[in-house]
Parts: sequence; C-alpha cells; structure tokens
Amino acid sequence: MAILPRRKVLITGADGGMGRACARLMGAQDDLVLTDVSAASLDKFAEELRTDGYNVVAEAGDMSDDALIASLVKAVSAAGAPFALVHTAGLSPSLADWQAIMQVNLVATEKLLRALEPALVPGTALVLIASSAGHMFPPMPEVEAILADPLSPAFMATIEGVINHMGGANSPGGMGGISYSLSKKAVHNICTSRGVAWGPKGVRITSISPGMIATPMGKSEIANTSGAQQLLDATPVGRVGTAMDIALAAQFLCSDAASFISGTDLLVDGGGTAGMKLSMGRG
Ligand SMILES: NC(=O)c1ccc[n+]([C@@H]2O[C@H](COP(=O)([O-])OP(=O)(O)OC[C@H]3O[C@@H](n4cnc5c(N)ncnc54)[C@H](O)[C@@H]3O)[C@@H](O)[C@H]2O)c1
Repeated sequence: MAILPRRKVLITGADGGMGRACARLMGAQDDLVLTDVSAASLDKFAEELRTDGYNVVAEAGDMSDDALIASLVKAVSAAGAPFALVHTAGLSPSLADWQAIMQVNLVATEKLLRALEPALVPGTALVLIASSAGHMFPPMPEVEAILADPLSPAFMATIEGVINHMGGANSPGGMGGISYSLSKKAVHNICTSRGVAWGPKGVRITSISPGMIATPMGKSEIANTSGAQQLLDATPVGRVGTAMDIALAAQFLCSDAASFISGTDLLVDGGGTAGMKLSMGRG
C-alpha cells in the first residue's frame, strides 16, 4: 500500500480542550502548525508532542492579530500543497464579554479565511468549530445579512443594536449568550457561502457544531450558566461529549473519506439539539 504524503494541519485554539485532542489525533499522521494565546503553555504542549514523535511548529498570539494570521498562513501553505485547518479558537459567555466573543468567534474567523484564500489549492479541507447554539434560531434574513459582513467598520455597533433588540441584558444568557449564538450561526453561514465559492477550486469547507463537551470551556459553561445544563439534560445519548468525539469528526471531515461533504454543518451533540427543539415544540 502506498504511503500517503504528510499534510500540514493548522490547529487554532490548539492548547484548548478540542485543540489538544485534534493535535494528538491528527498529528499522528500529519505535520502540525499550532497556535493559541499563551506562548508558555502552547510551547509546553508542543514540546510534549515532539517528545512523543510529532512534527510540530507552534506560534502563539491572538487570533485577531493580522501579523499572526499571515505568519500561520505562510507556515501551513509554504509548500504549495493541500493542507487542512481545524479552527477551534473561541470564547463562550462564561469566559468573556459579548464584544470579545464576537471578535474571536466571528471577526477573527472571517479574517483567517480571507488570509487563507490565496493559499487554497485543490485538496485543501477546512473545518470550523461552530456550536449547536447556532442552530437554535429560526431564519433571520436581516440579521444574517449583517453577520455576513463582520469586517465592515460599523459591524460591532450594528450587532450591538441587534443583540439589544433580541433581549440583550434581560435574556437568561445575557448579551454574551446572544453574541455567542449569533457568532456561531454566522460560522454556519460562512461554511455555506464559502463551500459554494470554493468548491470549484477543489477546496472543501465544513463546520462542526458540538453539543456540551467536557473541555475547560464546556465545564465552565456547565458550572456557570443554566443553558448549558439545560442542553445536557436534553441530550438523548445521556452523557457529556468528549474532546475526542469532536477530534474524530474533524479528522473525518478533513480526510478523503469526506470528499463529497462541503458547505454544511455536522452536529456532534449526542442528539442534544434535536432534544432541545422538541422540548421547545419546534421538533
Ligand atoms: N466545550 C463545549 O461544550 C463547546 C460546545 C460548543 C461549541 N464549542 C466551541 O468549540 C471550540 C473549542 O472550544 P473548547 O471547548 O475546546 O474550549 P477551550 O476553552 O478549551 O479552548 C478554546 C481555545 O481557544 C483559545 N482562544 C480563545 N481566544 C483566543 C484568541 N483571541 N486567540 C487565540 N486563541 C484563543 C483559548 O486560549 C483556548 O485554548 C470553541 O469555538 C467553542 O465555542 C465548545
């Protein structure tokens, strides 16, 4: 059997729960380019992986930083070969305010994809980690049109108005909860539009919508918000998900076994979204 050439895989949020699981799983066969905020912690993880035989380049920084993004794009695409992206970097309501959530989950995602576009070659596969939270909205054409242009100068002010209009501070999840759900809905839409635009280039893009996953973020949400426990209670599989549940799905979506899957979202939530929708009478 022929030995497959090693690809480069860029993993953002690589020091987080899902990022670490993706690095461990996918780095067994491919070369890793890892990024996360804390240099000390990321370097320590990268060193652990190298000790275990992995090929790793690690570059720390904030995903909103254009210089970091440019450097990551260069690192993953320099050879001109197909590569993979698993974009897990994100913030949730118990970890950050609504502005930071929108900046990291949506604005930085859009910046990353725009920077990657010139480097895309046939065979490249991109996976964005969204959330089941993005599935809870009915269609909202006007709001989705605003979410489709997150780099416009007026975006943050306009979306603040939208969040206020949707109940803002008075809703159970507060401004952060609505910001989080909107940012993830926007990621679903990015996959749809980029899947259509990039298919003819031979590039696939998908998103994964996790349910409740036992990572540092997931545990913080369960401990601090009512919505997370509600989702967990509605999950028919009857357990919290693991970071490896998500890594296995990301590995599949980046592989040739998923060569006919693009422009769509995969719920990896133990049926929790279906359970929530049924309990809200929207099944
Ligand atoms: N854990 C869950 O239950 C759950 C559920 C649905 C969706 N998600 C999504 O999955 C993704 C991964 O989450 P996780 O559970 O592994 O969380 P995590 O907190 O363990 O990891 C997220 C990582 O993103 C990094 N990050 C945050 N802001 C950053 C920035 N500005 N620049 C660079 N890196 C940054 C953090 O440092 C962290 O290491 C997130 O996008 C999250 O919204 C998580």
